[in-house]
Amino acid sequence: LDARLSLDPRSPIGTIDRRLFGSFIEHLGRAVYHGIHEPSHPTADGNGFRQDVIELVKELGVSTIRYPGGNFVSGFRWEDSVGPVTERPRRLDLAWHSTETNEVGLHEFSDWLEAVGSELMLAVNLGTRGTAEALELLEYTNLASGTARAEARRANGREEPFDVRMWCLGNEMDGPWQLGHSSAEDYGKKAAMTASAMRSFDPDLQLVVCGSSSSSMPTFGEWERVVLSHCYDDVDYISCHAYYEEKGDRASFLASGVDMDRFIDAVVATADHVKAVRGSSRTIDLSFDEWNIWYNEKFETVDKITGVDNWPVAPRLLEDEYTVTDAVVFGSLMISLLKHADRVTSASLAQLVNVIAPIMTEPGGPAWRQTTFFPFAETSAHARGVAVDVALDAPGYDTARYGTVPVVDAVASHDTEAGRAAVFLVNRSQDAPLRVSVQLASALGAITAADAVVLHDDDPMASNTLAHPDRVSLKGLDVQVDGSSIVLELPPVSWARVSV
Ligand code: AHR
Repeated sequence: LDARLSLDPRSPIGTIDRRLFGSFIEHLGRAVYHGIHEPSHPTADGNGFRQDVIELVKELGVSTIRYPGGNFVSGFRWEDSVGPVTERPRRLDLAWHSTETNEVGLHEFSDWLEAVGSELMLAVNLGTRGTAEALELLEYTNLASGTARAEARRANGREEPFDVRMWCLGNEMDGPWQLGHSSAEDYGKKAAMTASAMRSFDPDLQLVVCGSSSSSMPTFGEWERVVLSHCYDDVDYISCHAYYEEKGDRASFLASGVDMDRFIDAVVATADHVKAVRGSSRTIDLSFDEWNIWYNEKFETVDKITGVDNWPVAPRLLEDEYTVTDAVVFGSLMISLLKHADRVTSASLAQLVNVIAPIMTEPGGPAWRQTTFFPFAETSAHARGVAVDVALDAPGYDTARYGTVPVVDAVASHDTEAGRAAVFLVNRSQDAPLRVSVQLASALGAITAADAVVLHDDDPMASNTLAHPDRVSLKGLDVQVDGSSIVLELPPVSWARVSV
């Protein structure tokens, strides 16, 4: 197969916001306990955090981290998670049918974020709670001193405010599985009231209202329209969530990025419709604050915990093992996000450690990189500056879910200050290598050298495991350079990054 690609950085899509490379830690399974936190681990620091995990999170290059949920947040009482650890209550977590010990809470998590160098994106509970509790939490985190809440924070050892800038107004409030889920009307009003109250404390807070929990929800589209019609002036972002899994149709699975593109376009159109109806000059951006590959069917049918007397602490939940094929699709989802960098200005890979995660840990043992670690780390490190559209002249292939789709997808970035550009590509063909020639506009100057890596394996189902943590890794890729174009060959089912 042959494809001709071309790009011109003089008409960029938009600036790549670093918040596009965010992630997510939920109090779920072994994400926190036995994930980032394991006081008895040989690498644990004085706060009980695993240093080996901290190093991997830094290597991954994660900007903002959403916390503490997810479904968990809709039953969460934030005040349980502060104060002396020995006095904190154990609580039922109805979302994941577990026991929450509250051993790690807001202060500890914030210390961990400082260690990994990431920013906190905090979610408030709009499921079992409401505006009053959101305001109390905001006062606790962001007010310097002088009120009961601010002084409590100082007494709990944090002199300076946490100064959280980005807040999620609940989580997936359209989902019947969500504690306190509601209609678009009811949630829209509650979100508007909470947002305007939070803004009367600080008008510069960045607020994310819940969009649909997936584009396959029966209320998708209408939910966004109704919710935004209530709170358009008080929020900055509407959220998108999407998970993909292979269900016996690999051709469609490999084209999941097509679905993500359409999803984003639909939410942008809906947000702009509300903008037009209101005659507003503000534009609402998208926070794609949950995206990943997730074998959800396995969770629903095999792993789900039940029983009134069965509430384990930190059970093994959602510990999906990712293959090379999964990682190639994952890389293509990052391409989709970058192709919409003008409107998707925040995103969170869901999640980060052990739970549908790029980083896995064994209690008392090692931490390792899943296959999905590689496209994330590479994209975060190299997609700097502005995102640039790549025109595709490529063969198509048929899929049951999305019709005929191009065998290749690609996006580029251009960092004018550093004088560097990068192209991110995926070959969705299951059997044919793809010879790609990329025509680079003269605006990039004469290209004399390129460096490239590829994620591919002769076994597309290969993965990294406790027994074989380094089975899959990136490999160097040969690139021919001739001044204004580069030529490379992408093996079947592969993802690649090329820098010039
Ligand atoms: O990321 C796992 C779960 O997926 C989150 O808790 C929820 O928001 C979504 O349904």
